[in-house]
Amino acid sequence: MRHLLKDSDLTAAETREILSLALDIKKSPEKYREALKDKTLIMYFEKSSTRTRLSFEAGMTQLGGHAIFLDKKTTQVSISELRDEIRAIERFADIIMARLMKHDTLKEMAEMINTPLINGCCERYHPCQAIGDVLTMIEHGGDLKGKKIVWLGIANNVSNSLVQVCTKLGAKVTLCIPEKDPDAVDSAMEEEAKKTGLYEETTDLGCLKDADFVHTDTWINMEFINDPRFAGEKERRIKAFMPYQLNKALLDRYGSKAKIMHCMPCHVGYEINRDAIDHRDSLIFGQAENRMHAQKAIMVWLLRNKNQEQ
Ligand code: CP
Repeated sequence: MRHLLKDSDLTAAETREILSLALDIKKSPEKYREALKDKTLIMYFEKSSTRTRLSFEAGMTQLGGHAIFLDKKTTQVSISELRDEIRAIERFADIIMARLMKHDTLKEMAEMINTPLINGCCERYHPCQAIGDVLTMIEHGGDLKGKKIVWLGIANNVSNSLVQVCTKLGAKVTLCIPEKDPDAVDSAMEEEAKKTGLYEETTDLGCLKDADFVHTDTWINMEFINDPRFAGEKERRIKAFMPYQLNKALLDRYGSKAKIMHCMPCHVGYEINRDAIDHRDSLIFGQAENRMHAQKAIMVWLLRNKNQEQ
């Protein structure tokens, strides 16, 4: 059973196949209007979401299927064990997407079920985000081979996924970071990326000069952002990361012509400034939309694989 828990679950050829399908789905959505007719996607969220929920739900509608939203608070998952609930949930699903706190829980879930499972963002990876982001970069710059992508701010789950996909497709990825999110660190993934010769870490903002794309993301994970117990660490991080804020002055200082990307939600005045979000080179809202086109392709691809296995 093929799942998508992290981008390294896919070979380079499979990643290209999904991207090519996503481009075709976006160009000719009418061809795919019944691609998942009568299929049900069950989405389970342990954390909040705007884009992931909307893009999967709208995507499923456009493919002729149906999506069901579940969260912990309004289901019996809160009073039972997920390992049992998920085996009941899969009886109603053709495909499952889960946004969980822990990657290990996702892996455990995948072992329990015989239904394709998609990671909708955990503390380690955000594979659908990275595939959507690559789709956006291809649309705005062609093949990624030889392109330079700078990730600004904190290394996290989204940067891990971006590194996995982009180095696989021949792009150079520079993490311009003073720190890494300790919950997201994946040393094995970093070693694999280093072997490609396309991955580097620096604190030197000069790397922005020849970047084709610059990405950033929140300095504080969504589950901690309004948690009073995290308030001290939040203040510390704001001080440490402020020089890495993505804004027009920073891009101008380094003569950067990079296209601006952010997976959203944006925290204006922290990791990104208003003048970067609304900049003529900002791709941020198209990037959000591309989550849907990418995930439509991922769902069609996973279900085609399942059918071929049977
Ligand atoms: N980028 C992203 O995953 O957005 P949401 O948290 O709103 O789903």
